Amino acid sequence: MSTLIPFSQTIRERTRAIHTKTEGAAFIAELVDGKRSKEDYAALLGQLSFVYEALERVAEALRDDPVASPFVDEKLTRLPAIEADLEFLIGRDWRDATRPLPATRRYVERIEEMAAWPGGFVAHHYTRYLGDLFGGQAIRAVLQRQHGFDTNGVGFYIFADIAKPKLFRDTYREQLDSAPWDEAEQERVVAEVANAFALNGALFDDLADATAVRVA
Ligand code: HEM
Repeated sequence: MSTLIPFSQTIRERTRAIHTKTEGAAFIAELVDGKRSKEDYAALLGQLSFVYEALERVAEALRDDPVASPFVDEKLTRLPAIEADLEFLIGRDWRDATRPLPATRRYVERIEEMAAWPGGFVAHHYTRYLGDLFGGQAIRAVLQRQHGFDTNGVGFYIFADIAKPKLFRDTYREQLDSAPWDEAEQERVVAEVANAFALNGALFDDLADATAVRVA
């Protein structure tokens, strides 16, 4: 019976293949291989500034929504860290040098649409924040080693208020398991997680096109 499988496990299993594909996008694979410059990393963070601005704006709008609110947690908030990293990497005028790529615009538009569908918002929330809490740590380690960053520049990957990421993730999964979605809506949520991965993949592909590979 499908009800025996926790929904959080269903999401993870049904999106495993697209996780692997997204993780393997050339831009990310090269970043993890230490083949991307500091400027390229700043370009990634610049695009993510638009994504998190939208995600955290919609989170604020859904703060009192009964479905979305258990997931909205200030400990996750990333935009201030992204802004501080960009100031460190580019300078105070980083905004002048930062424009959303077409795929970033599409991703932001989709997040904004989720203000009308809390389950879809959770799908986007899950895809980015749990990814940052886990896969993001591997990226941080490479960046710190490659560019000599301590914490400045990689604040995006540092969740200072989450002492135990695994415990946090387990609680998050329990919230996914107890969200009041019927089977039809669970299907839509899984599909939206897959869509969120695809939107990330498209963003990475746009970034690869927009930046020349500079072998370190
Ligand atoms: C270098 C790239 C990446 C690596 C090495 C990586 C690695 C990992 C690992 C090892 C986990 C499992 C953590 C655990 O269960 O203990 C994980 C989970 C996750 N990653 Fe990634 N990841 C990468 C990129 C991404 C990207 C780009 C996204 C989405 C934009 C993403 C989204 C997720 C999500 C949502 C989870 C949570 C799965 C769950 O527990 O339900 N990851 N990642």
